[in-house]
Amino acid sequence: MRNLLIAGNWKMNQNNAETKAYFEGLSEIISEAPAGVELLLCPVYTSLAVAVETASSITGMHIGAQNLHFEDKGAYTGEITASMLSEIGVSHVLIGHSERRQYFNETDGTVNLKTKKALDANLVPVVCVGELLDERKSDTHFSVVKKQVTEGLKDVSLSNASKVVIAYEPVWAIGTGETASPDQAQEMHKFIRTELSKLYNEETADKIRILYGGSMNTGNAAELLSCSDVDGGLIGGASLKPESYAEIIDAAAKQANS
Ligand code: PGA
Repeated sequence: MRNLLIAGNWKMNQNNAETKAYFEGLSEIISEAPAGVELLLCPVYTSLAVAVETASSITGMHIGAQNLHFEDKGAYTGEITASMLSEIGVSHVLIGHSERRQYFNETDGTVNLKTKKALDANLVPVVCVGELLDERKSDTHFSVVKKQVTEGLKDVSLSNASKVVIAYEPVWAIGTGETASPDQAQEMHKFIRTELSKLYNEETADKIRILYGGSMNTGNAAELLSCSDVDGGLIGGASLKPESYAEIIDAAAKQANS
């Protein structure tokens, strides 16, 4: 059985003081990850150190970055390496979020380089994929996502593949209040798992967590998490308040123990 992963993507929100207050608030609601559930929050770079420190009061809480660079060092102004992240206790990293693809020219090629670099540094890559509204309307969403998964994981070894987390985030559902229906999510997650079994094998594909992202919130989390191939969520807006994040964790705990 795959553990559910309830991940929050804070995007460009929450400074140091807000991050500290968030974890203090969250630790009043939960002291540990429920059985069968793993927790992850991804703050901005400048809040990572304080997040690692204050999150330690919650057992099973992991801290991730929202990006990394694929080189080990050098003249890349403004960038951060994988080892700089792991040095301060970061364990996960989001790769190829649709906002990075849209505003910062990330491609399946850079996603692939970053994924391999994260794995080399023992960081868990959370590789984000998902189609645009036009692509869903023109019925090309499966081929778009297949290409993102295949090229994103190119040359990732069989032994590393099971460490990867995939986040399926239909771009039309991100920050819009519109979510994929549980049927749409399950259909795509199943498709991704089938593609993973072709790239690797069934046993490996069964180990890889596939998260759903795109307006997941307290109202729809339980239903989305009940889909057999939905192994958690990547949550933006609804992860910014400890109360709503904790409510989604609660929905996951009920699902994990059902
Ligand atoms: P949202 O963001 O939950 O606010 O839609 C999800 C994401 O972008 O990861």
